[in-house]
Amino acid sequence: MRVNLKVSNVSLKNINKNFGEFRAVKHLNLEIQHGEFFSLLGPSGCGKTTTLRMIAGFEFPSSGSISFDGKDVSYTKPHKRNTGMVFQNFALFPHMSVCENIAFGLQARKIPKPDIIERVAKALTLVDLTGLGDRKVTDLSGGQQQRVALARAIIIEPNILLLDEPLSNLDTKLREETREEIKKLQQRLGITTVYVTHDQEEALSLSNRMAVMSQGVCQQVGTPEEIYQNPANTFVAQFVGNANIIEGVVEHSGNIKISPNWQFSKKSLNGSLKPGQKVSLSIRPESFVFENKDKCDTCFDGKIKNKRLSGAIVEYQVEIGSTIVQVRNLISDQTFERHVDDTVLVAINPSKINILNAD
Ligand SMILES: Nc1ncnc2c1ncn2[C@@H]1O[C@H](COP(=O)(O)OP(=O)(O)OP(=O)(O)O)[C@@H](O)[C@H]1O
Ligand SMILES: [Mg+2]
Repeated sequence: MRVNLKVSNVSLKNINKNFGEFRAVKHLNLEIQHGEFFSLLGPSGCGKTTTLRMIAGFEFPSSGSISFDGKDVSYTKPHKRNTGMVFQNFALFPHMSVCENIAFGLQARKIPKPDIIERVAKALTLVDLTGLGDRKVTDLSGGQQQRVALARAIIIEPNILLLDEPLSNLDTKLREETREEIKKLQQRLGITTVYVTHDQEEALSLSNRMAVMSQGVCQQVGTPEEIYQNPANTFVAQFVGNANIIEGVVEHSGNIKISPNWQFSKKSLNGSLKPGQKVSLSIRPESFVFENKDKCDTCFDGKIKNKRLSGAIVEYQVEIGSTIVQVRNLISDQTFERHVDDTVLVAINPSKINILNAD
């Protein structure tokens, strides 16, 4: 298979998609660049598959437009768009062999048989399934089936690869391995890829950029780092990285009060914030640290309400004033010396506190 396929950029302009009275996708604008690995991340029912199916041409937008490389394809039939799609359940043909499944798209395009044989052999090598071509797909493991679906999508040399939760049927270990394989393959082929997932870890680890969706609305577009470090709103902050959302009140310039004994100053405070104004703050669980010093100017007294070990991570619920926060640390020797009901000194660097909105 030739490397450097014909890659395209994808542009969605003010897309709405209605199913009867129900609007599944609302005012969606996306610009996906040539060769980019772009994820659509969001909870069940937020409109990810609907968006992907509109890019593939299996659904048409109710309004708005879709273009590839500036060419309007909003109402173009799927087989005229040259996209390759891996469906959520793989949708392999169970009565066919691995080779027959992979060759399907080429046969439909009436490619000569010798070319098909050659291209299938190359695709098998590419997804590391050499030697399994004659096997029935039902006799393969989940991970192998996933790779057949991938080979079937890329053998037609699509301009755009569309993947709908391609790892959801795999166990944890296989999912991580296959995730790496998809990333390597995408980088090797340099193909524009739109990847649908509800798994934040997948989106964060694979994407060049991602869009976070909720209830048909795009909440934020950015690199994984931008989304993680500067979530646009409380939904993104909680859905990506389970941030603590805490209410605060602006006391005076540069100072925010969360509770009487928990205040902090933030130099970079937006000048538009006025004394008395309420704000929502997002703080990542891993941004809190426990201090052992007797005296610490920027620390707050807390009490451990709950503690849970989870692999190399320990998660605490800590009461600070009247607020309960989630704290996440790497396991250390101190982990085993801290117990539920212990009082602790908790520190947070004000630069790690995001101000999400002001009412
Ligand atoms: N053909 C259809 N007719 C009516 N409603 C539909 C249709 N397809 C999707 N929907 C609705 O549109 C909304 C978005 O569906 P979609 O399949 O895009 O969600 P999703 O984000 O892919 O969710 P999941 O993670 O569960 O796959 C849902 O409320 C769904 O019930
Ligand atoms: Mg879906």
